[in-house]
Amino acid sequence: MQTFQHTSVLMDEAMTLLDPQRGGVYVDGTLGGGGHAAAVLARAPQSSHLLGIELDPAAIAAADAVLAPYAPRYQIVRGNYADMAGICRRAGVDGVAGILLDIGVSSHQLDTPERGFSFKFPAALDMRLDPDAPVDAAHIVNTYNEVDLADIIFRYGEERASRRIAKLIVAQRKSAPITTTTELADLVAHALGGKRGKIHPATRTFQALRIAVNGELDVLTTVIPAALELLAPGGRLVIISFHSLEDRIVKHAFRDVCAQSLVRRYRLLTKHPLTASDAELAANPRSRSAKMRAIEYVG
Ligand SMILES: C[S@@+](CC[C@H](N)C(=O)[O-])C[C@H]1O[C@@H](n2cnc3c(N)ncnc32)[C@H](O)[C@@H]1O
Repeated sequence: MQTFQHTSVLMDEAMTLLDPQRGGVYVDGTLGGGGHAAAVLARAPQSSHLLGIELDPAAIAAADAVLAPYAPRYQIVRGNYADMAGICRRAGVDGVAGILLDIGVSSHQLDTPERGFSFKFPAALDMRLDPDAPVDAAHIVNTYNEVDLADIIFRYGEERASRRIAKLIVAQRKSAPITTTTELADLVAHALGGKRGKIHPATRTFQALRIAVNGELDVLTTVIPAALELLAPGGRLVIISFHSLEDRIVKHAFRDVCAQSLVRRYRLLTKHPLTASDAELAANPRSRSAKMRAIEYVG
């Protein structure tokens, strides 16, 4: 098995906000390779426990190996964090001290050619975080109508040329389905007139398709109220996002619950999102777009 390559972002900042030294139960809703989860377990007292949730069996295998030294203080559930309330209920987890969501894809997933996330490698157009999910990127590209494709590419990719790209996709697939990452990347580059700036012309379209394939904005919107309900007094929800639309969802949800909470009171721990330091940026360029926000359930 290829080794799992992923550098956890905003590690020190996440540990300061989660403050695992307090002890109790922690939930990592995006376990990935287990980097943040191991840091929580390393800092938390022996009596504390971590529940990790993850969609991707490859990530689960990697995390299980990383967390093994902390057995039996952790358990891993394969599932979608959108179902965090149900997963925690079934695992007997309640009154949580800290929840972490580090959303999106890991570097490992991006860099595994056959997962189809990257235009850098020729592969089938897949992009599913959960390899058993019913809809992959090829399905969207080859069956959605032109308006829906343009909407996805515009909304999730913030791509101004979305209509031109959607039009070309629909014209192209009339002769043969578009089945590979490189075919799609070439088509997008063509639609954009071969212009090359600092980033590859297909970057925004690929990001948009990934978000659509995995319903990433919907699951984030769903999980926030569920996660807030799971917190014990003093418990904290920490969310790291990589996309302005995701950060907006987190920002508004946190702001609204602080303004409205009459029965359950919450307070913001981050007035502005935390971002990577210069040192982290230099060491891990992927941290460039990371934004972290945190909220506490006061009681
Ligand atoms: C950025 S990585 C997390 C890395 C991790 N924090 C670490 O330090 O190793 C995000 C992970 O979340 C998983 N993921 C994304 N959306 C998910 C969802 N809705 N439910 C469960 N896991 C999800 C992805 O498969 C990926 O492994």
